This record gives sequence, structure tokens and C-alpha cells, in this order.
Amino acid sequence: MQGCRVAPAGKLETTCIQWAKHHITVGGRGNANPVHSTAEIVEQGKKNFAAYCMVCHGRDGQNTGVPFAQSMSPAIPLLSSGAVQSYDDGQLKWIIENGVRPSGMPASKGILSDREIWTIVVYLRHLPPAGSLGEPRTYSEEEYGK
Ligand code: HEC
Repeated sequence: MQGCRVAPAGKLETTCIQWAKHHITVGGRGNANPVHSTAEIVEQGKKNFAAYCMVCHGRDGQNTGVPFAQSMSPAIPLLSSGAVQSYDDGQLKWIIENGVRPSGMPASKGILSDREIWTIVVYLRHLPPAGSLGEPRTYSEEEYGK
């Protein structure tokens, strides 16, 4: 793991961090999604995503309309990217439950039910083209009342 000591943060180091997250620090690996991905479930996941994740990840999971996405450290990733999509379903559920510390990604345990989280995992696998849902109307009652 010599590459992990390379400074400043270069590609190798980033690759090491990605590897460690995928194989060691993120739990839930192999935990199968009990919710089947029907069109209805994708729609439910999309609504749950709009209620809990949209402020940071945009409606489309690809940061559309999120002004601070790039200025956060680490930057908010595109949820459609290979780095995120290569987690298995159980790992994505674990990430949503536990958040990513010490970054700005919050834990949802106790806020979202298991089923709600699994529907969001289904939505993450069926993200629409970037920008196709428009920008979030952040903090408007219309979005949160649903
Ligand atoms: C307050 C802002 C915020 C909210 C709300 C938020 N996230 Fe995140 N999310 C982040 C940030 C910042 C990162 C980057 C974390 C990192 O790389 O350390 C992130 C990363 C992720 C990742 C990738 C994690 C990884 O290890 O690569 C996933 C998947 C994710 N978020 C899904 C969600 C889902 C689903 C929700 C809603 C339940 C959500 N996020 C709510 C800010 C947020």
C-alpha cells in the first residue's frame, strides 16, 4: 500500500481511498435489496430522494442546481458515476444509513425506514439523465409537503 503515502493527494492516493472504502470501511456488502425495482418503486424512491437527499445531490442525483456541490470538501460526487455505482446495493444502503464521516454526508438511520432507504437504492440504480428533472425548488413547501 505504498501508494497511499504519496503526497500531495494524487491519483494513486485517491485510488487507495476508493479501494479502502469499497473493501473495508463501508459495510453492508452482499446485503441484497428485498425491494424489487418496478416502475412504481423507482417513483417512490425518487420521492424519498427528493425529500431527503435533493438539497445536496439535486433531483437527479447529479448535482443539478446545487450551487455548493463543488465547493464542499470533498466535493459532492455524481451518484451516477462509476465510483458510486460500483458499490453493491447493501453498501449503498449502509452509506445512506451511516453517512460518510467526516464529510457533509449525513446519516439517515432513525430518520428513514429500511424500506424507504431500499427504495432510494432502487432510484440510485435508475437515475434519469443529468438535468432532465430541472433544479430543486429548495426549501419550498411544495417539495417537502409530499
Ligand atoms: C447535507 C448534504 C447531503 C445530503 C442531505 C445527502 N448527501 Fe450524500 N453526500 C454528500 C457529500 C458531501 C458526499 C461526499 C462524501 C465523501 O466523498 O466523503 C456525499 C456522498 C454520497 C454518496 C457516495 C458515498 C461514497 O462513499 O462514495 C452516496 C451514495 C450518497 N451521498 C447518497 C445520498 C443519499 C441517498 C442521500 C439521501 C438519503 C444523501 N446522500 C443525502 C452530501 C449529502
